[in-house]
Amino acid sequence: MDKLAVYPGSFDPITNGHLDLLERGLKIFDQIVIAIATNPAKQPVFAIEERLELIRLSLEDHPLRGRMRVDAFEGLLVEYVKKVKANAILRGLRAISDFEYEFQMALMNRKLSNEIETLYLMTGMRWIYISSRIIKEVVSSGGCVTGLVPVPVEKALVERLGPSATSKHPNSL
Ligand code: PNS
Repeated sequence: MDKLAVYPGSFDPITNGHLDLLERGLKIFDQIVIAIATNPAKQPVFAIEERLELIRLSLEDHPLRGRMRVDAFEGLLVEYVKKVKANAILRGLRAISDFEYEFQMALMNRKLSNEIETLYLMTGMRWIYISSRIIKEVVSSGGCVTGLVPVPVEKALVERLGPSATSKHPNSL
């Protein structure tokens, strides 16, 4: 039977670091569902539909496209993992600073559902310093993020947050 992982996150927006992790994950799993969490407490720059579309566009020509699905979910991650009958949760670790939050999340998910494991992979060295947050900060200040995010994402970021964006998003940094 195919091994399926759920790769959850905010993906606001997807970066090349996320893509790197997906490629690494596909060395272990047959299929990965990229699952965007709907978090009412967060004020994202891109709406769920926009994030879904940006991921779809970013993966359009990817050679492993057939082994990835994109979805969004509300509520508990472990419930979503059970719903799609996945074998594990996949997450990336960039640095020690990620560890505390990830450890807490993994243990909480284990408490909520003992049979679901979380697997962590180290992000490639090229992407160790990037995050969706810092990418948004750079674009908001007029900096260039070429090569750090997929092309459709860069375009959408510049339109939404760049110095010539017509109406600045409330989350512009
Ligand atoms: O990209 P992020 O923001 O670090 O992703 C965090 C995410 C979406 C994986 C996490 O907040 C999550 O799993 N949210 C769903 C709600 C949930 O299950 N919470 C309990 C586990 S901490």
